[in-house]
Amino acid sequence: MPATDHHAPALPVDLVIFGGAGDLTIRKLLPALYMAWLHGSLPANIRIIATGKQAWSLDDYRAYVECNVRPFIDARALQDDVWARFLARFDYVRIDATCADDYRALADLARHPAQRIFYLATSASLFTTICESLASVRLVDEHARIVLEKPLGHDLASARAISDDVAKYFSEAQTYRIDHYLGKETVQNLMVLRFGNPIFQPIWQAPSIRSVQITVAETVGVESRAGFYDHTGALRDMIQNHLLQLLCIVAMEPPVSLHPDDVRDEKLKVLRSLHRMSVDDVARYTVRGQYARAESDEAEIGPYSAEQGVAHGSLTETFVAVRAQVNNWRWSGVPFYLRSGKRMHKRTSQIVIDFAEAPFSIMPRDTGVSANRLIITLQPEESIRLQILAKEPGSGMRSLPVDLDLDLAQAFTERRAEAYERLLIDVIQGRLTHFMRRDELEAAWAWTDAIQSGWAAIDQAPQLYPAGTAGPPASDAMLARDGLSWFDVDGTK
Ligand code: BG6
Repeated sequence: MPATDHHAPALPVDLVIFGGAGDLTIRKLLPALYMAWLHGSLPANIRIIATGKQAWSLDDYRAYVECNVRPFIDARALQDDVWARFLARFDYVRIDATCADDYRALADLARHPAQRIFYLATSASLFTTICESLASVRLVDEHARIVLEKPLGHDLASARAISDDVAKYFSEAQTYRIDHYLGKETVQNLMVLRFGNPIFQPIWQAPSIRSVQITVAETVGVESRAGFYDHTGALRDMIQNHLLQLLCIVAMEPPVSLHPDDVRDEKLKVLRSLHRMSVDDVARYTVRGQYARAESDEAEIGPYSAEQGVAHGSLTETFVAVRAQVNNWRWSGVPFYLRSGKRMHKRTSQIVIDFAEAPFSIMPRDTGVSANRLIITLQPEESIRLQILAKEPGSGMRSLPVDLDLDLAQAFTERRAEAYERLLIDVIQGRLTHFMRRDELEAAWAWTDAIQSGWAAIDQAPQLYPAGTAGPPASDAMLARDGLSWFDVDGTK
């Protein structure tokens, strides 16, 4: 019996999306659900009930989806008959999330019994009232599940308050906190790479590894989300969740099984081992940046401060680099450099494991180039490269780094589902492994809060970097102090 059969829902599934007309639903959730529907991964009895403030009929909502969602689906996957059957699974209920009476219409529509999944693609400020209102119309029972979108709070205190409120109605086992990076194929593959390949086991630690770099660089700016982003910044938007989750997977001990709590227990230990920074540490080991106007006039990009919706004189960071330390036996003395920014020179998400130099080299070679690196690229391409030294052809014994290169898209020709598709199927099937547990989230906030307070104490504006570059020079200088440099997103340094 395939493993998933065990989780196949016995009850009809009602997937209720709050924020049904919102950006996330349109760009990510509905395209992901369509792809899952096309490939037969959704239960045939599913209903997708969108809710929103708009006084729309179901036909109005379908027309909205028709017009706005289709552009986000790969045209090759659009089949009119499948699309029509997909749209037939929809319902729409007008709900002002803050108006308890509006939830009656949802209760009238609900099936009994059913597996109800509430996807809160709304601002976290609405989570409490939505949970209360759902419970008041008796839609929350032991089969119900709730999916919470980030940002889950603004700091540790607000994250706790949200979790306390949600926990009044949904147990931890019913709560799915999404970090879409955990749904990415290559991120899941990282677990297999680490725990399925024993050759890495003895060297996956200090002193065999001398540093780890995790970069998530974006070329886009804040787009239409300035209202949200300007109150959030890169530390809360990216580092607190996506980059720390990647760090956890790189640094965790082997879990005893893939059971959600076994995996999450190990990730939690990593988060708890992170050195909590003092103000001095923050000054030394973090860099805040904000993009300025691009250097080339043609591009006419930036500055951030002139983006529509950004507050005049905003001090929000669009770039962060941090030198983190995992204080435990395995990682003592190994710096973990994290970096993420908007409007950088290249879109890439990459983890670079930098192995220690040979204790003594008998061969002449370029200085400053590490012998061995494992470079895991999550996007745009998905690859794993192991950099080794090889002899340069010709006379002499000069060596140069070359790559053993695994292109995952070529190695596996099967379709690779998008992160949201995989995670939505996990929710429907009740698999929690790739979702954050409350204590993980809180440990991540505790670490980021220390950085945030350090910045407040230092009270300096973020350093400007021209749009289209790799961030402020201070980020390079931070690594240079350790005798290292960022592995350039283009590949070679
Ligand atoms: C989101 C952030 O969580 O992740 C965005 O809020 C960011 O600001 C996005 O652009 C990046 O996701 P991906 O999958 O495109 O790397």
